[in-house]
Amino acid sequence: MDVKEAIVTRRSIRKFKETPIDKLILQELLEAARLAPSGTNIQPWRFIAVTSLEMKAKLKECTIGMKFIEQAPLIMVCCADLTAVDKRSERISELVESGAFAGTGIDTILTDSQNKPQRDGAAQLAYVNLNVAIAIEHMILRGVELGLGSCWLMLFRQSKVKELFKLPDTMYVTALVPFGYPDQEPEARPRLPLENIYLGEV
Ligand SMILES: Cc1cc2nc3c(=O)[nH]c(=O)nc-3n(C[C@H](O)[C@H](O)[C@H](O)COP(=O)(O)O)c2cc1C
Repeated sequence: MDVKEAIVTRRSIRKFKETPIDKLILQELLEAARLAPSGTNIQPWRFIAVTSLEMKAKLKECTIGMKFIEQAPLIMVCCADLTAVDKRSERISELVESGAFAGTGIDTILTDSQNKPQRDGAAQLAYVNLNVAIAIEHMILRGVELGLGSCWLMLFRQSKVKELFKLPDTMYVTALVPFGYPDQEPEARPRLPLENIYLGEV
């Protein structure tokens, strides 16, 4: 399967077979997330794989009516580690050393403390979540290639999920994503036509 086919055939799956997900497949999903790009390479994504019946039942209770997640063999709790931003300088040094910016002049811009982005709490959270979302979609598309269905889920109570997993204040739950072998073949869902989203070429 090529990337285009994964993009075209992916659906939000809300009905799963009981077939468990092999540990090696879980590793493949995590590896797809690990390789995602992120701003100055901060890599703020953190994941908890929930497979036990007990924890899946508890996690279901943290959602707003998303009962279907309980029958997924795996629910990935996808988190943003807000402290990842504090290691920005380290990550930039690694990038500079790896030659990522060679000949571009970007290294001098990034290492100048005057150019450090000034983001308030909300903007910082949005930024970190944006990076985690990219990793999640990597994982979802790799899942499609491996025959797995999944569904983004944001209808849950943040505080309840954090309490369940005893997550510190520096961690934010970006999304829950159930994964499993699809037990349904949904039609493609509606999309806006191209003319609504493409504002043109200049
Ligand atoms: C950020 C995000 C949050 C979502 N939250 C939920 C959710 O809480 N529950 C749910 O059933 N589907 C959720 N979805 C799935 C969307 O409903 C779905 O992607 C959309 O209807 C298009 O259908 P498709 O994914 O099958 O193409 C979410 C999708 C995204 C990208």
